[in-house]
Amino acid sequence: MSNENLGDTNDLTGDLAQSVRLGLLSGADGIRLFAAKLVRKYRRSAPELSQQIDGYLRAAPAASPMRKKQMDEARPDVAQPSDDLAVLRVDTVSARQPVLSSAVMAEIQQLLTERRQAQKLLSLGLEPVRSAIFVGPPGVGKTMTAKWIAQQLDLPLFALDLTAIMSSYLGRTGNNLRAVLDYAKSIPCVLLLDEIDAIAKRRADVSDVGELKRLVTVILQEIDAWPSTGLLLAATNHAELIDPALWRRFDLTLEFPRPERRQIVETLDTLLSSDRQHFERWLPILALLFDGGSFSDIDRTIRQFRKAVTLKTASAPDLVEDLARRHSAELDRSGRHQLAMHLVAHSRLSQHKINEITGVSRDTIRKFQKAEDGHGD
Ligand SMILES: Nc1ncnc2c1ncn2[C@@H]1O[C@H](COP(=O)(O)OP(=O)(O)OP(=O)(O)O)[C@@H](O)[C@H]1O
Ligand SMILES: [Mg+2]
Repeated sequence: MSNENLGDTNDLTGDLAQSVRLGLLSGADGIRLFAAKLVRKYRRSAPELSQQIDGYLRAAPAASPMRKKQMDEARPDVAQPSDDLAVLRVDTVSARQPVLSSAVMAEIQQLLTERRQAQKLLSLGLEPVRSAIFVGPPGVGKTMTAKWIAQQLDLPLFALDLTAIMSSYLGRTGNNLRAVLDYAKSIPCVLLLDEIDAIAKRRADVSDVGELKRLVTVILQEIDAWPSTGLLLAATNHAELIDPALWRRFDLTLEFPRPERRQIVETLDTLLSSDRQHFERWLPILALLFDGGSFSDIDRTIRQFRKAVTLKTASAPDLVEDLARRHSAELDRSGRHQLAMHLVAHSRLSQHKINEITGVSRDTIRKFQKAEDGHGD
């Protein structure tokens, strides 16, 4: 968690410089799009900053609508995307199969089958799935699944960073996007439009500008006309920002939920790997502490744990206690009670320790302990 914050703080200086550059070079429109990106980027790590910028955005009148001349210039432009078009060839060699609910996995298997047997379908006048949108909170496997699908289909994966495209030179954004899309359509590949909410905001949004509308239009047209030789995937964690007109156009919508308890346990097992023995007795507590979190929370934490026990910079009990303390700080009263009860039942921590971690009174903890002893024997 601290690493993430540190990352964002490092980003801050870069973002400040970029704001100045855009302000000087591209004026109100450019800085406006960049500001919208910052609002999203810092929503979690620096909520006050994010809200402040959001406030400025809302207070400033939206830029003038796209001029006719610019519209005309935005005709299809079949250029090879060059380096400054934030499109990335993603390595899929190391892609792993994500842990998914059986319902989501079944839909993905269906997608893979349709893609593999596309010829057969086409010969019957049917079409394989051409596009899908993945919705879900951060860190639940949307990008990971896109990689895995591309690997399974043996197709190259291109990811288009829409936030980067948005902050690139404004007048060229539509052209850039078209060039990338045209290129992706011309070869068999999987194209991932990550963070599609970055441009697919509701068209009525107050901070909307003409440019955004134009991009939405480009995307809508492209999804409609996507050839069945390619697969277009999109991902978002803000379903509420997606234009309904956009939703309808995807052949398939897949919702990625946060991991269930069973999947948390499975993931812990895989990730702890050879260090499992150090954490064996803490597994039930860890499963509880990760409840409501994402796969990537588990991933990050368990990597830190394994490094610490390998390098002996912290012991397993210290690590788990520390995690419990941080978790507890985010809970309400009844959540802390529940945590205390679990710690009584599933850890060998002293009442003193449990009180210190959860803030629940020792009297109450003693009662839990009595009830637990009553059950036990
Ligand atoms: N379903 C999953 N099964 C196994 N590991 C997962 C899963 N989801 C996420 N992870 C772990 O978390 C990391 C980040 O996941 P990923 O990038 O796919 O999240 P995302 O859903 O795309 O999130 P964001 O919305 O922030 O882009 C993965 O590299 C993987 O280590
Ligand atoms: Mg992602």
